[in-house]
Amino acid sequence: MQLHTDIPLKNYTTMRLGGNARFMTDIHSVDELASLCQHAAEHQLPIFVLGGGSNTIVRDAGFAGIVARNRIMGYDIIDDQPGASTIRVGAGENWDETVKRTVDAGLSGIEALSAIPGTVGASPVQNIGAYGQEVADTIMSVDAYDMHQSQLVTLDNEACGFAYRHSIFRGDQAGRYCIVSVTFQLSKSSPQPPFYAAVETYFAEHNVTLFTPAAVREAVTDIRKNKLPDPAELPNAGSFFKNAIIDDWLYRELIEQYPDMPSYDMPEHRHKIPTGWLIEQTGLRGQTLHGMRIHDKNALVLINESASSYEDLKNAREAIKDAVRDKFRIDIEQEPLEL
Ligand code: EPU
Repeated sequence: MQLHTDIPLKNYTTMRLGGNARFMTDIHSVDELASLCQHAAEHQLPIFVLGGGSNTIVRDAGFAGIVARNRIMGYDIIDDQPGASTIRVGAGENWDETVKRTVDAGLSGIEALSAIPGTVGASPVQNIGAYGQEVADTIMSVDAYDMHQSQLVTLDNEACGFAYRHSIFRGDQAGRYCIVSVTFQLSKSSPQPPFYAAVETYFAEHNVTLFTPAAVREAVTDIRKNKLPDPAELPNAGSFFKNAIIDDWLYRELIEQYPDMPSYDMPEHRHKIPTGWLIEQTGLRGQTLHGMRIHDKNALVLINESASSYEDLKNAREAIKDAVRDKFRIDIEQEPLEL
């Protein structure tokens, strides 16, 4: 295990901002991870596990510990039944390549999560979701190294505490587990309509009538290409805010005032409001604040145009949050994790 010192984290995160890691290393196996944890404990250094860096924002102070890039690989079919396959995938595997592999095998369950940057190990952390699928719906279990107890554990789906863009890995157990592999159960049946509206429109426009995982993958990849900036060209972290989930009383007040406000019903009489719409209504879409541009094709995305520090990003974020709060009385939340 080689520890590199003073590494600029902006080179390892797609927002391309923030300070240095005091130490950085790659981990390729559970054994390497266990010795890293032991080393960190002996030197009283915190560990932060980084995947692809596409959902992590780094503060200007950087990280006074060890940033460990998860490179634990592997793709194994662990059970194959007539209707479904169970596969275990190493946390360091690239997410989209993994989706492609499952789609090529004719499996359904994560095809609408195509073209999302990052690694397999990051997918349960914020419970990635797009175009009608959420990764939590296919995850059977997560194998993780418990850095507090120094042991490998298996957490079943329920133990992961999944919710909209949330899990225990970013909630009350943040920093405790290093995800080693994720086990998915995927179906051999074709995906069934109705699909997410944008996918339905795409199928109609392209005369697609055979609904296969590959057809959904192609549609989603194309839709995303047009709506979401490629982080390799324009630094960004995908959706910068979560969609807002509000109580019924506020929803009723707002819908009266803004009858065209889009919304989706949620359990317990709550309502999900697209934060992209809320930001658009404040007039900020397409504007640049403190070097951060609010993407003109999707106001939920912030592009680092010329921001030189986390401070710039923070100022832009607070200005957007204030504008939404002033107009709608809604507190919007940042989606990417912060280091
Ligand atoms: N909308 C606007 N203006 C905007 C953006 C959105 O009015 O600038 C409204 C429209 O009414 C649209 C609705 O928001 O119909 C939903 O927009 P869209 O389908 O583009 O999805 P989203 O809510 O902006 C979420 C995820 C995306 C995911 C898409 C597609 C979150 C935080 N984001 O975005 O995930 O790709 O749905 O399912 O839930 C990500 O997390 O990084 C991400 C890209």
